[in-house]
Amino acid sequence: MDFTVETATDAVVESFRTTKDQRLRELLGSLTRHLHDFVREVEPTIEEWEQAIDFLTAVGQKCDDTRQEFVLLSDVLGVSMLVETINGTEDGTESTVLGPFHMTESPSRELGDSIDLLGTGRACVVSGRVLTADGTPLPGAELDVWQCNEQGFYDVQQPDVQPPGNGRGLFRADDEGRYWFRTVVPSHYPIPTDGPVGRLLDATGRHPYRPAHIHFIVKAAGHLPVTTHVFVADSPYIDSDAVFAVKSGLITEFAESRDEDDAERLGVAVPFAHARFDIVLAPEGSR
Ligand code: BEZ
Ligand code: FE
Repeated sequence: MDFTVETATDAVVESFRTTKDQRLRELLGSLTRHLHDFVREVEPTIEEWEQAIDFLTAVGQKCDDTRQEFVLLSDVLGVSMLVETINGTEDGTESTVLGPFHMTESPSRELGDSIDLLGTGRACVVSGRVLTADGTPLPGAELDVWQCNEQGFYDVQQPDVQPPGNGRGLFRADDEGRYWFRTVVPSHYPIPTDGPVGRLLDATGRHPYRPAHIHFIVKAAGHLPVTTHVFVADSPYIDSDAVFAVKSGLITEFAESRDEDDAERLGVAVPFAHARFDIVLAPEGSR
């Protein structure tokens, strides 16, 4: 049969008929159908298709050991969040994107330690509990946290300014599932714009900013791990995250506290910002 606009899709889908892995055959068939429909709908010129290939080539060429431009592309197209949301569970804290800055191992720290190694910012305490959906504490849960500083930079972006591990910590919840650590209130910041994804945002009039947040990966035996953020409630860009990662249940007040007893117990001076963020883990097998 001749290859025509009408027969193209069947011809390509049929060519994958011998694929042994059934899931792979399903994915390739669906990809072919959607891609062909897209091309039939927008009818790109040869030059436009070459531009598209050049763009994807540039995305690949921008990738190295510490830069993943394809993930960034998936982030700004909302695909990363779509995959997260489809794979999330309704029985636990909502998940969000991992992001590119979880690239070094967080140093182990004791509950109450500060992850702000420079001590330059406004004092802040983050505390909460790790729980099951019915409110049972999860003692010994592991919390991996990482965040940018008050200027909006992660340690790996400022190796001459910030010591490695600044803004990072690996904590273990206590016998009652509680955790607490000291830090600074993070800033909003732009995603990397010095590559093709930055040019895409520019060409479409989109800003590159993410609202202020602290990243968490929380794990406990017998439970599904969650990759999430706590978002600073009044942060700029809370309604227009460049990577669509905000979920209302994750927005938390970093309220100013003048409580002298709390301050002494937590090792900070008043006034300090206090964010309370409980994390609920769903049981294994509940997805
Ligand atoms: C981040 O929050 O670290 C991040 C997420 C997606 C893209 C860029 C940065
Ligand atoms: Fe981040």
